[in-house]
Amino acid sequence: MKKALLLAAALAVTTSASAAGKLEIFSWWSGDEGPALEALVKLYKAKYPTVAVDNATVSGGAGTNAKAVLKTRMLGGTPPDSFQAHAGQELIGTWVVAGRMEDLSSLFKSEGWNKAFPKDLLKLISTNGKPWSVPVNVHRSNVMWYNPAKLKAWGVTAPKTWPEFLKTCTTLKAKGVAAPLVVGENWTQQHLWESVMIGTLGAANWENLWAGKLKFTDPRVVAGFTTFGKVMDCANKDASGLSWQQASDRIIDGTSAFNVMGDWAAGYFATTKKLAPNTGFGWAPAPGTTKTFVMLADSFGLPKGTKNRTEAINWLKLMGSKAGQDAFNPLKGSIAARTDSDLSKYNTYGKSAAADWKSNKIVGSLVHGAVAPESFMSAFGAVIDQYVSSRNSAGAAAAAQQLAVRAGIGK
Ligand code: GAL
Repeated sequence: MKKALLLAAALAVTTSASAAGKLEIFSWWSGDEGPALEALVKLYKAKYPTVAVDNATVSGGAGTNAKAVLKTRMLGGTPPDSFQAHAGQELIGTWVVAGRMEDLSSLFKSEGWNKAFPKDLLKLISTNGKPWSVPVNVHRSNVMWYNPAKLKAWGVTAPKTWPEFLKTCTTLKAKGVAAPLVVGENWTQQHLWESVMIGTLGAANWENLWAGKLKFTDPRVVAGFTTFGKVMDCANKDASGLSWQQASDRIIDGTSAFNVMGDWAAGYFATTKKLAPNTGFGWAPAPGTTKTFVMLADSFGLPKGTKNRTEAINWLKLMGSKAGQDAFNPLKGSIAARTDSDLSKYNTYGKSAAADWKSNKIVGSLVHGAVAPESFMSAFGAVIDQYVSSRNSAGAAAAAQQLAVRAGIGK
C-alpha cells in the first residue's frame, strides 16, 4: 500500500514536472524545410526537459501562408510565444510600428549580443537603438544554382551577366533544353526579379530605390523589367504550380539548367537530398551580382502578451547563442548571424558564403523582408503577375511606384 502511494506520488511529480512549461514557436519551416529548426528544438528540449514545445508550422515557401495566419493570430490577441519574421522592414514596418512587440534591449545586453552580431545587422533589426528580434542566420538571395555534370554535358558555364545569360539560354534551347531556367510560384518569380534588377541596376541604385532616391519609373528600372521579361522567356511554362523545392528538383534531374534561389536551396540539396557541394550541386552569384551579397535574416521576436514569456525568452537566448546558431545553420544552408561562429561545422558552400559575407557589398532583399514593409511586399506579387502576363514594363514600373509611395518608402 505504502509502495503504491509512493508510486502515485512519484507519478504526480512527473506529471507536474512534464507540464512545467509550454512554448509555442511559429514558423514556415515544415517538411523539407524542417531539419534545421528541429535541431534547435532538440537542443532546447535537452536544456529545458520539462517544457512541452509546440513546433507550430504553416508550410509555404517564403512564409506566404504563415504570414497570413500570423496576422489573424496577432490581431485576434492570441500571438504565438515567438514567431519567425525577416529581419528588417517586414517586422518593423508591421508589428513593431503597431506596438505589438516587446523591446529586446535588456536581452541583447545580458546576452552580449550588441557585440556578437555585426553592426549593420543590429541596425536592420532596430529602431532608435532598440532591437526587436533575434536573428538566427544570414541567408543570401542572389545565388544561381546548377548541376555541374549537366552544365558540362551541355558545354555551358554559369553566365556572369544577364545579357550573357540570354545568350546561354539561346544555346541551351538549340540543344533541346526547352526551359533553360526554372521558376516556381509567384514569390519565386519576385525573387528572380530582385536578382535581375540588382544585376541590371547595380547595388547602389538598388539601395537608392528603397531610400526613395530612385523612382520605379526611372528608365533604368523600366529597362530592368524588360530584361526580367526576356529572362522569363527562358523559363518553364508551369511555374505557378511549383514550390521552390520542386523547382530545385528540376536542376538536379536536368530538366532545366539554372535556378535563382536563396541559399536555403543549399540546405535542401545538402541536408534533404544528400548531395555534395560542387559535385552534386553548383552555384554562382546571380548574373551581374558578383561581389554583391543580397542578404536577409530569419529572426524571431517576442510578441506582447504571450502566454509563456519565460520559455520564449529562453528560446530566443538559444537562437542567439553560438551553439544554437552552429547547430541550425549548417543544416539550413545559411551562415550564422553571429561573427564568432565555428566555420569548421559548415560545408564548402557555407564557407564560401561566409567569405562573401565578409568581403562583398551587402544589400537587402525585397522579397524576404529586409528593405520594404509588408504593405509593399504583399501587393508587389500582383505587379509581377500582371507583368508576366502583359510584358508591359512601363505599366509595371508605374504600378510599383504607386505602391512605393503608398507604403511610405523613402519617408
Ligand atoms: C525565406 C526564409 C528562408 C526560407 C525560404 C523558403 O523567406 O527566409 O529561411 O525558409 O523563405 O521558404
